[in-house]
Amino acid sequence: MADDEEAPRRILYPGAQSRVSTPVTRSRQTDPMADKPLRLDEIGYWSEVKLDIVRKYAKAYSTIMARQALIKGHLYIDAFAGAGTHISRSTGQLVEGSPLNAMSVTPPFTEIHLIDLHGGRAKRLRELTKNDPRVTVHEGDCNDVLLRDVFPRCQYGDYRRALCLLDPYRLNVNWEVLEAAGRLESIDVFYNFMIMDGNRNVFWRDPSKVAPAEVKRMDAVWPRWKSGAYRTEQDLFGDVQMKASNSDIAQAFREDLGKVAHFKHVPAPLPMRNSQGAVLYYLYLASPKAVAAEIVKDIFDKYRSRGV
Ligand SMILES: C[S@@+](CC[C@H](N)C(=O)[O-])C[C@H]1O[C@@H](n2cnc3c(N)ncnc32)[C@H](O)[C@@H]1O
Repeated sequence: MADDEEAPRRILYPGAQSRVSTPVTRSRQTDPMADKPLRLDEIGYWSEVKLDIVRKYAKAYSTIMARQALIKGHLYIDAFAGAGTHISRSTGQLVEGSPLNAMSVTPPFTEIHLIDLHGGRAKRLRELTKNDPRVTVHEGDCNDVLLRDVFPRCQYGDYRRALCLLDPYRLNVNWEVLEAAGRLESIDVFYNFMIMDGNRNVFWRDPSKVAPAEVKRMDAVWPRWKSGAYRTEQDLFGDVQMKASNSDIAQAFREDLGKVAHFKHVPAPLPMRNSQGAVLYYLYLASPKAVAAEIVKDIFDKYRSRGV
């Protein structure tokens, strides 16, 4: 895959340094992973921007939650947590990923849930976080883990709240997860909606040519995608279906987060572009709270004005 496409290149990296206590050189006798090189993602500028945005918002979120006497706990949930560290494409340096950023937020989150489907990455996350009792690492498909194990821990009536990051490589967050989060009214969701994946694999000019497996995937991700991705126009022969523009698709998805998934506040998303200026994904924040929308609008606007 080219480096400006949606999935980052993987780089074999023999050891990963971090602020969190992870040995760079490890003994072969005591550590079965010592000889295995870690595959880290090489991330582009836009991913570093995303990390900055989430870190800024997480700090503001945790500050507000920690001040509220009634709130008994505020969680950070990273549903596509990654390996914990990445390599910056622009500098070649190690960059801490979203889980490590969340761990260093002050005031601190009271619980941190990190989910990754990939066994090696989950193991790596356990290693990186072993000294932090707030962290639980879950290995599995977040679509199951969130609904079964994590969302029940952030019930509105229990005075518990959460910030959840959904940051996949592809469009594979099931709509039922978004709707469950919206209905709970206790969760703020950052969602990376990979429109480039949609354009490439599903939102085709002629939808009848899309592979049935891709249609099925998209039906699970966004049940109303056909009304968002196409608009009806008239030509000499009657109605024709035209593919909608990226920004119209993004707006339709935004409206569904509000009307269908029941998030009260969904500010306009930030388009994240690659080095050629093509939109890779739209970054949304969906929240039950107006103040959340105000904070994220300020953060998004700073990056928008820099032409991310
Ligand atoms: C873009 S990376 C996450 C980067 C991370 N949020 C960060 O900024 O540091 C996506 C991760 O999601 C994991 N993944 C893919 N599908 C998943 C699924 N269904 N459930 C949980 N994790 C998944 C991949 O193994 C990969 O580590």
